[in-house]
Amino acid sequence: MTRTLTAESVACAYERERPVFTSVGVTVRSGELVGFAGPNGSGKSTLLRVLCGLLKPRAGRVTLDGRPLSSFRGRERARVIAFLPQAVNPAFALNVFEVVCLGRYPHLAGFGAMRPHDKDVAERCLRATETEELRARDFMTLSGGERQRVLLASILAQEPDLLLLDEPTSALDIHHQIEIFALLERLAHKGYGIAVVTHDLNLAARFCDRLVILAKGRDVVASGAPEVVLTPTILSDAYRAPIRVATHPETGAPLVWAEAPSRAEEDAQ
Ligand SMILES: Nc1ncnc2c1ncn2[C@@H]1O[C@H](COP(=O)(O)OP(=O)(O)OP(=O)(O)O)[C@@H](O)[C@H]1O
Ligand SMILES: [Mg+2]
Repeated sequence: MTRTLTAESVACAYERERPVFTSVGVTVRSGELVGFAGPNGSGKSTLLRVLCGLLKPRAGRVTLDGRPLSSFRGRERARVIAFLPQAVNPAFALNVFEVVCLGRYPHLAGFGAMRPHDKDVAERCLRATETEELRARDFMTLSGGERQRVLLASILAQEPDLLLLDEPTSALDIHHQIEIFALLERLAHKGYGIAVVTHDLNLAARFCDRLVILAKGRDVVASGAPEVVLTPTILSDAYRAPIRVATHPETGAPLVWAEAPSRAEEDAQ
């Protein structure tokens, strides 16, 4: 089913006098991979929390297929939207397979027993994230990157239409980073709508259909196709630091890096 998740003129503040943003509008539709980037503290995680209904905006509205998100009940919403937070600390001692199975909860009836189909889905998600070999391990003993891949498997097992992922590759090695982004691209082609927060502008440039750039205290400062958004002017302004952009010699995507401070600047500080 085609889904449209929209935030319109959304304002958020954890404390009344310190707004994170005052009027943000974004849309995530089935079939597209949308990247969210911007400096630390610019409100990316806050925006994802609003989009999945965990945080109530102070103003504006969030709708799913034109209906207020707040009118969806928990399970109903969980069958459509899955959210992977930036940091997760499970409260129970679970092995990897059990963590992945937790993702099936919105689909389980009555007493929550897993049917063969649910186990098949969990197995498929382990394979998709290359975590099959970890299945019997205690989740808490995994490395940071292994945990991240298992948590992604768990929300894929939820079989939602929309995925909201907060820095899903921040702890991954370069092989697994690109594997996960390529997986997200495939999922978007299959019809999932995906919002992904990332600090890796080069992966975003290569895989995302659209990018949204937030800046601290300034809401959304740019949005559009990666080639349109990833310019030295837009990025240097958003990060308040000199950012350079070239073209990747193989993929043709924008190639972004931050300039290192010169010795003279460092000595002057
Ligand atoms: N629970 C909270 N209580 C008070 N302030 C908060 C809370 N969570 C976030 N903030 C503040 O809101 C602002 C936006 O935070 P948010 O986590 O959305 O930023 P971010 O763009 O995701 O940053 P990062 O790149 O570091 O993950 C920051 O100034 C942060 O300090
Ligand atoms: Mg964040």
